[in-house]
Amino acid sequence: MWRRIRLILTAAIAVVALIGGYGLWQVRNNADRAGATTSGLVTNVSIGGPFALTDHTGRAVTDEDFRGRLMLVYFGYTFCPDVCPTELGEVALALDELGDDRDAVTPVLITIDPERDTAELLAEYVPLFHESMVGLTGSADAIQQVAQSYRVFYRKVEDPEYTYYLMDHTSFVYLMGRDGEFLSMFAYGTAPEEMAEAIRSQI
Ligand code: NI
Repeated sequence: MWRRIRLILTAAIAVVALIGGYGLWQVRNNADRAGATTSGLVTNVSIGGPFALTDHTGRAVTDEDFRGRLMLVYFGYTFCPDVCPTELGEVALALDELGDDRDAVTPVLITIDPERDTAELLAEYVPLFHESMVGLTGSADAIQQVAQSYRVFYRKVEDPEYTYYLMDHTSFVYLMGRDGEFLSMFAYGTAPEEMAEAIRSQI
């Protein structure tokens, strides 16, 4: 997995830089539209909603299955050469920062690339970041619906020079409450300590 990520990174460094810049623009743009500041802040639009997906063990799950626990939700994809692994690494660091309190929160990766991200692939990927991380995939429609409810933007980026495609996507980490309600969101690059503090304030 990491060898592949490294290969892709090497091969596509220019593409990644380009996409990274566009992603940052999207993040800012999206934050403006959502009326949110870029870290840890409340917005005046609804974020999150019901979903029916499949977890990385192949089990059918809905948002109801996560009730009673906080959720740290991230939308990304396993082929992502740079942004997703970086941000999921930060999520893992935030959990470590929490110590025993980490049991109060479930980190969740919802793929925005269901075409390639099968439950089997997610099962290989999520444990690379954290033992408690849950990977979720589903039909293209189900993914589109949940992404829309979180105001997540994503699209396929084809490059004729490569045999694979990349996904352009917004990169926020969402902290959701025990009843599935939106609590706060963190922009790409938010310090793990800041996420941990926001989580701890809800415990
Ligand atoms: Ni990504």
